[in-house]
Amino acid sequence: MKQKRSEFATKLGVIATTVGSAVGLGNIWRFPYEAGEGGGGAFLVIYLLVITLIGVPVICAEFVLGRSSRRNIFGAFRHFSPNGKWHYVGYVGILASIMILSFYSVVAGWTMEYIYQSVTGGLDFNSADGFHSQFGDFCGSNWRPVLWTVLFLLCNLLILRRGVQKGVEKMSNIMMPILFVLLIVFCVNSLTMDRASEGLSFLFNPDFSKVTPGVVIGAMGQAFFSLSIGLGTMMTYASYFSRKTDLRRSASVTAILDTLVAILAAVIIFPAVFSFGQSPAQGPALVFEILPAIFSQLPGAAIWSTLFFILLFLASLTSTISMSEVSIAFLTDEKKMSREKATWLNTMIAMFFGVFCALSFGCLSDYTIFGMTIFDIFDYVTSNILLPFGGLLISIYVGWFLDKRIFRHELANGNSSLFTSLMRFSLRYIAPTAIFVIFLSQIGVL
Ligand code: PHE
Repeated sequence: MKQKRSEFATKLGVIATTVGSAVGLGNIWRFPYEAGEGGGGAFLVIYLLVITLIGVPVICAEFVLGRSSRRNIFGAFRHFSPNGKWHYVGYVGILASIMILSFYSVVAGWTMEYIYQSVTGGLDFNSADGFHSQFGDFCGSNWRPVLWTVLFLLCNLLILRRGVQKGVEKMSNIMMPILFVLLIVFCVNSLTMDRASEGLSFLFNPDFSKVTPGVVIGAMGQAFFSLSIGLGTMMTYASYFSRKTDLRRSASVTAILDTLVAILAAVIIFPAVFSFGQSPAQGPALVFEILPAIFSQLPGAAIWSTLFFILLFLASLTSTISMSEVSIAFLTDEKKMSREKATWLNTMIAMFFGVFCALSFGCLSDYTIFGMTIFDIFDYVTSNILLPFGGLLISIYVGWFLDKRIFRHELANGNSSLFTSLMRFSLRYIAPTAIFVIFLSQIGVL
């Protein structure tokens, strides 16, 4: 018996859930730290180029495959190419989704610790420079980060068990606008800081002499990570879209809002980094040390801090829900597993790896391969390798193998719009070549 696939209820629901997937720790935690390590302005320019030339076309490709097949990443490829090997792309996506969930939950767990500390007065907002040691002590305790990682994954599980529509849609609708307003308030505050101009010039004055292949691949990885593309998240979500949804509009709005939030976060962080005399290249701890210091300068610091970390926690949840949906849709559609079982399986695997990722900042910090901790490896391999690789295959498939009419029909209801032609052009030529060249330059071939 064929079951009707659940659909998102409203137009706002579609935008809110795709934006909810895209906007998360990737924008507020990862973007500032990657941009900080990548030299600021030049990183931003490359990032914007990747978003426009590769990111938006790949979102469109995922939307088209997902909505027209109404299947998960694995099933979508098998639907269009039943005899080919294309559905193996699905395994890349599923592997990436579980690896991301594992390390993402650690950072989402940090937001829970910071909510807890803000509420109970554990964050000392009177000593503006104690936040570095506070973060270190927290990670060094080992059990606390592990506990929060597990708790976060349980929250994720609770929402996933309720199904797609109710849980995600309602929460995103309320939360995203509040987060946005709060970011603007903090932005205005940061712009009034003593050395704000240094922070802005770091972010907006590109110094291309600092660009290395590592910076370019970092910017590309960040773009894929932030847009939730290359692993079938957008594809799976699109399989729940109604036929009436305008995919062009959804893709553009998602990319624009996602980029805006990342830039807002950077405009909050960098003026503060320079005003507090800190280094922008501190890595994953950056935002968790700088934000409390920013809040400590505001009246009612604990309230701002609580509110902000709650929103960041919720933004993380809407993202983890979307990435979990990749493997859950695969297990329920293809392996005929019950949703309950699939959700638990996904959670248990992520918990297992999540513990190692959480301990990478504590007792496992000396366990490194190529100078990277377990956490760093999960982060690096997914963003910089698996997602762009998935994106490469998706763009080649949609650009070269998928019937042009299907692409046109889904994306623009059969009209031959300029947008559709541009997207197809990029999927055929620009996106695959660019990703390939960036890969080659990273491994030193170019
Ligand atoms: N885009 C999300 C963020 O920026 C992370 C994410 C990656 C979500 C991959 C789903 C899939 O936080």
